[in-house]
Amino acid sequence: MVHLGVLASGRGSNFQSIIDEIDAGRLKARIALLIVDNPHAYAVERARRHGIEHLCLNPREHPGKDAFFVAIADELRKRSVDLVILAGFMRIVRRPLIDAFPHRIMNIHPALLPSFPGLHGQRQAVDYGVRISGCTVHFVDEGMDTGPIIIQAAVPASPDDTEESLSERILRMEHKIYPEAIRLYAEGKLSVEGRIVRISGYEPRNEALVNPPLSART
Ligand code: GRF
Repeated sequence: MVHLGVLASGRGSNFQSIIDEIDAGRLKARIALLIVDNPHAYAVERARRHGIEHLCLNPREHPGKDAFFVAIADELRKRSVDLVILAGFMRIVRRPLIDAFPHRIMNIHPALLPSFPGLHGQRQAVDYGVRISGCTVHFVDEGMDTGPIIIQAAVPASPDDTEESLSERILRMEHKIYPEAIRLYAEGKLSVEGRIVRISGYEPRNEALVNPPLSART
């Protein structure tokens, strides 16, 4: 059984989607720990409700950014975490954590990378006027949203979209593909060669795996 460690800074709706998939028996994993960097993160409330151990680590209580990530890595290791899930964690992960969990940290980004990395991916897409945006689950490296891509899903965008309306549509898709990427990991189907992630058993015509079918995009 894969042990997950989740890092979050805010509302934690992706965290919730992972909890729900586990509770429904569709994802064979256990959430060993939630770490937040902000005591007011609503993710904490979700952890409480589901009896998930949670910790708040304050970056200001550590002598430098690396030390903060050393502390995070220590807490995760103590709980034998296999896979680290960034779920709206608003910090660039630094070396000590990346080295402690090589190719074992995932992030979700609300745009089709490499387009619109960084903050406000949805607003960037609306301002640019794209017709298709979406979301990306990727392994984390030391860059900003630059690590090897695991799965992506497209979401239509229109000139009538606002940042809010597009964000909402993308978020619904995030809640489908993040648990899916974790499931692929838990089933031992992911391997990484350079920046290419291979999914064993995946064939390009198996559209449902990488890009959930249109019927799912409600
Ligand atoms: C999501 O849009 C995710 O893509 C981005 O941060 C947001 C987190 O939302 N990385 P939530 O906290 O999971 O609700």
